[in-house]
Amino acid sequence: MALQAARALNADLGNLPGEASVDLVIAAYALAEVPLAKARETAVALWKACENTLLVIEPGTPQGFSRIHDVRVALLAEGAHLIAPCTHVNACPIQPPDWCHFSVRLARRREHMHAKKATVPFEDEKFSYLIASRQPGVLEGARVLSPPAESKAEIKFKLCAETGLTQQSIARRGKAEYKRVRKLEWGDLF
Ligand SMILES: C[S@@+](CC[C@H](N)C(=O)[O-])C[C@H]1O[C@@H](n2cnc3c(N)ncnc32)[C@H](O)[C@@H]1O
Repeated sequence: MALQAARALNADLGNLPGEASVDLVIAAYALAEVPLAKARETAVALWKACENTLLVIEPGTPQGFSRIHDVRVALLAEGAHLIAPCTHVNACPIQPPDWCHFSVRLARRREHMHAKKATVPFEDEKFSYLIASRQPGVLEGARVLSPPAESKAEIKFKLCAETGLTQQSIARRGKAEYKRVRKLEWGDLF
């Protein structure tokens, strides 16, 4: 397993070691814990603490995305390469009230359902994220930014690409193209 050699460290997000020391840093729902004014410098400290890849995940809310947006700007200024979800390094084209976020279906255990007074054994968790690396990835294509809208005649995609935000409609009658995209989901690369 990739994480077999992982070690758990106790550290204060506000006082991280400066030198590169670990391969992968995952900050999941963590930046929201530090004061807004410190989120950017904390992300840069996390970046400096990692030798390879940094994954930052925040709640998929306008506030969570706003932190991710700040992190993107700060990491690009540090020379980081973006891996996902961005497919380009141009200024992020997303403007409020819109925000870049995705969704994952998580199983709920019985205790979890009870605590949340939930009626279904799953929850669709919305999240915003950014993966940055010291090695360049392949930045191309477009990211599917919302659930594709399917009708009898076509599938419509909201996409983020180097040229900005776009809508793309693929007609069912364009068989080869339709076959290529029909299984794409929110969050996939177009
Ligand atoms: C919302 S939880 C997320 C936990 C976990 N990363 C996850 O995704 O399930 C936020 C975590 O950040 C920790 N935390 C809060 N302030 C911190 C700080 N200054 N330094 C390090 N951890 C902190 C809290 O103890 C809590 O465990």
